[in-house]
Amino acid sequence: MPALEFDFNNMFSFSIGRQHGVTVEELESSRKTVQKAHRHLMSIMKEPDNRVKLGLEWTKLPFQDKKIIREIQRLGKEISEGYENIIFLGIGGSYLGLKAAQDALRSPYHNETAFIRGRVPRIYFEGNNLDPEPLSALMKALDPKKTFVVVISKSGETTETKASFQGIENWLKKGAGTKYGRQIFAITDPASGSLRQRVNEEQRKDPLSFRSLPLLKGVGGRFSELNMGLLHLAIIGIEIDKVLEGAKVMSERCNRGNLYKNPACMYAVLHHILYRKKGKSIAIMMPFSETLKSTADWYVQLLAESLGKKYRRKVRISPSGIEAWENDKTHALNAARTPISSRGTNDLHSIQQNNIEGENNKAVTFIRVSKFKNDIRIPKTNSQDGFLEGRAFSRLITLAHEATEWALVREKRPNCTITMPEVSPYYWGGLIFFFEMATAFEGELLNVNAFDQPGVESYKNYMYYKLHKSGIDEAIANEIRRNPLVKKKGFIV
Ligand code: PA5
Repeated sequence: MPALEFDFNNMFSFSIGRQHGVTVEELESSRKTVQKAHRHLMSIMKEPDNRVKLGLEWTKLPFQDKKIIREIQRLGKEISEGYENIIFLGIGGSYLGLKAAQDALRSPYHNETAFIRGRVPRIYFEGNNLDPEPLSALMKALDPKKTFVVVISKSGETTETKASFQGIENWLKKGAGTKYGRQIFAITDPASGSLRQRVNEEQRKDPLSFRSLPLLKGVGGRFSELNMGLLHLAIIGIEIDKVLEGAKVMSERCNRGNLYKNPACMYAVLHHILYRKKGKSIAIMMPFSETLKSTADWYVQLLAESLGKKYRRKVRISPSGIEAWENDKTHALNAARTPISSRGTNDLHSIQQNNIEGENNKAVTFIRVSKFKNDIRIPKTNSQDGFLEGRAFSRLITLAHEATEWALVREKRPNCTITMPEVSPYYWGGLIFFFEMATAFEGELLNVNAFDQPGVESYKNYMYYKLHKSGIDEAIANEIRRNPLVKKKGFIV
């Protein structure tokens, strides 16, 4: 069975010159730093307390108990067979992995025809915005009696998910009868938060109402696809075992100590050098596959929330090896590459112009697919301008990728290519696990805490303050009062 392949040639000086490419000497002189990062990550991964406390429990997800997986698969089948529509509510890490899986592993236009969908229900994703339009439209269009709702929120407190859930619950209550709670499933923290509390209350009244699965301790939202995403995979008829198998094989590759055999380490260090030494601060993710565009969107969140941090990390290690991480607030770091999601060939007619001729501050990651599930061959008509005749789309997209690589290299723009033998559950599981490991390594190289997201708190706090949410910290409330937004009339044109 071929493996996921990682081609880093176009990131090196021998392809794009020393000013923009990494020299072999630069890579070699980073070896010690990489080894240290690798050792540190491996030591945390080995120690259960550290894993849970520091947010690395996701590294164990490929190795989940088979019995649990079978039960989730059964649950998914039961839900799938019982309903025409499933609405998943969640945002950020509680949404993007599902959408990525849906688009990669099910057919495009899934919701549009039963011919494509087969026996799988229509799938909708909501709760990821406060725009009232999509949810209103959905509630008008669907029959609540034929609709099942999966609400996903680790904290149970996220405004977007909470608000959408309250709207949807009311809709179900009105339209599906007194036992509407049986059409609700919650994936949330095993012990805390208002959603977990609600689950416990409803379960006491009726065990078939508000059934639930835990979002495990030590698994942060954006690293949780192989945890919170499993029920979705089961509902859409994907064999979870295959996704986990792909991740497991990738885990073994990404644990290797030899840099040249460890794709995640190599990806992290090359991007780190390009960022630190060659000014490549923009990360363009460009799969040459429409079905992987949502995987690129998922990666954008992974990179941005994990590494875009204000402060450097301070690590304290107790004599027993238990670690505590703090933010070093003595000076701001404000670091990390800015991710952008795009796709070939669509965006060759948009962002690519800037990639080629705009500021040379980007590194592009391509994902190419060796074998598509379907293909179209252009008929032969023997016309004069017949250069496309008899060609397969799969050949054209492969060539478009190669041509894009060539065009970037010619302009000395770093890029690398990940080849997926096919977009299957096995390879997709491997791909997302690779990106998670690469991000964790890059976090080590930057020395930031890759597993928290303090920056997203400030908008939440501002909203909570304005909405008079109880329990808001007085210091935060004071800060908001003291620093109102400045809106001078003369500058509103
Ligand atoms: O990666 C993360 O931790 C975040 O993106 C969260 O997933 C997101 O904020 C949603 O949080 P919650 O699942 O608590 O509703």
